[in-house]
Amino acid sequence: MRKEKEIGICIGDATPVEVIFVSKELPKFGEYVILEYNDMKILGMISHLVVKNPSLNGDIFDPNEIEKILEYEKTSNFILAKVRLLGDVTNMRMPRIPPPPGTKVYRAGKDVLKKIFSTGHIKIGKLVHGDEDIDVYIDAQKMVCRHLAILAITGSGKSNTVCVISEELSKKLNGTVLIFDMHSEYVRTEFTKKKVIEPKINPMYLSFDELKILLKIDEKAYVQERILREAYNEVKRKHGYINLREICNYLEKTLIKATSDEKRARIAVLSKLEDFIDRYKTIMDEHCKRIVEEIEAGYVNVIDLGEVDENVADVIVSHSLRNILNERKNRSTLPPIFCVIEEAHILAPKDDNTLSKYWISRIAREGRKFGIGICLVSQRPKGLDPNALSQCNNMIIMRLVEPSDQKHVQHASERLSDDLLVHLPSLNIGEAVVLGLMIKVPALVRIYKYNKKAFGSDPDIIEEWKIFEKRRIEEKKNEIEKIKELNELYGF
Ligand SMILES: Nc1ncnc2c1ncn2[C@@H]1O[C@H](COP(=O)(O)OP(=O)(O)OP(=O)(O)O)[C@@H](O)[C@H]1O
Ligand SMILES: [Mg+2]
Repeated sequence: MRKEKEIGICIGDATPVEVIFVSKELPKFGEYVILEYNDMKILGMISHLVVKNPSLNGDIFDPNEIEKILEYEKTSNFILAKVRLLGDVTNMRMPRIPPPPGTKVYRAGKDVLKKIFSTGHIKIGKLVHGDEDIDVYIDAQKMVCRHLAILAITGSGKSNTVCVISEELSKKLNGTVLIFDMHSEYVRTEFTKKKVIEPKINPMYLSFDELKILLKIDEKAYVQERILREAYNEVKRKHGYINLREICNYLEKTLIKATSDEKRARIAVLSKLEDFIDRYKTIMDEHCKRIVEEIEAGYVNVIDLGEVDENVADVIVSHSLRNILNERKNRSTLPPIFCVIEEAHILAPKDDNTLSKYWISRIAREGRKFGIGICLVSQRPKGLDPNALSQCNNMIIMRLVEPSDQKHVQHASERLSDDLLVHLPSLNIGEAVVLGLMIKVPALVRIYKYNKKAFGSDPDIIEEWKIFEKRRIEEKKNEIEKIKELNELYGF
């Protein structure tokens, strides 16, 4: 006897990618079904559901009449379900012929689902719909080499997903992860193997573009840029590396010979540099190792960027990515690495040019060949550089409400079909549409909750208001007491 339960029969026009069936019971969106025809066993996903009643087809508007009809027609409701065909269960190849009308539809059984979803390198969650408990695994090789985007509105579970993936990669596969921690949340999270790297740069290794950004020299300040470049090149030529004090000295020395216009620009660059040296003395360290040398193989490496401003974060991220790419190209001792970029819409924005955007895009394009994976995490996908996003051949999309965000994502990935898109606003916290090369077919997954994370959950403001009010009353009381005491002391 077959194990799978028959739930409906196909009707109407079908194509090799889509078919409608009349269902005996209400299936769920995202549920998997099996269609058997032409000696094939085709897996499909429920992509649309409608409940209809032939007597109530929308042309009767009188509630009393509707009630009367319902008394006799209670049982006439029927369910139409649309199925998106995903491929033959044996090889996941798409069928060339559509299912003929009358094809039976079965609920996909545990064995089939396990064969499809429970093989892979790392476990990220469970299928949302499967009465059976089906673990979802993903292919880490394809995730790292073909990059990943984790997208959702704030508070939907993106960071939790990063934690689950990072822990699995490092613990199970001895994989190396580097997280650019924009809000100091991962430094406060436990991983079995974790290393925290201080956000420090040795100025000796700064590129000219990095220095220019750090000094906030405007794109259009051509004279200032020329002066800085001249000083930078001169110091590099003389010493073989960069020393910020030497650049100051050079600028001071050359000030005397400059014309009055040039003098003004030189003084501007000099004061920007002196101000920078003073303000960022904790980040610039002439004795620190390069960030790539700090990376621990097989660990979750976390660079804490919570305390630095956006310009410095841009320089640290781009500096690290540039060095990682160079190291991996030169077949160094650095292992393949998965780089997680939180707030990707800030570091690789759509309408602006940052240094990080350049290096993120380069790694997104070239990283595959050198074993460098990028994971872009963003709550504002429409603000994210479309080129970098379209290089992400894997996506984990959680709750996404704004149509402009959804369209931007869909534009970057042809795998995100319209029927998956419409369900993004209704996903619960921790639920995700997972698609791309790292999974055999798109899936609706409930990501595991990572229990060792210090979550940035919303503060309990009601409780805080109570505490503040209590404190205010206390202070008022103390004040009155004090006045009373003074009055008594001076006999008022
Ligand atoms: N898979 C999950 N299962 C259960 N709860 C979850 C899951 N993922 C996240 N949460 C809960 O949702 C909250 C927000 O999670 P998280 O910080 O991962 O969201 P986020 O998308 O990264 O938010 P932000 O955009 O603010 O960075 C947390 O308090 C966490 O407890
Ligand atoms: Mg987050």
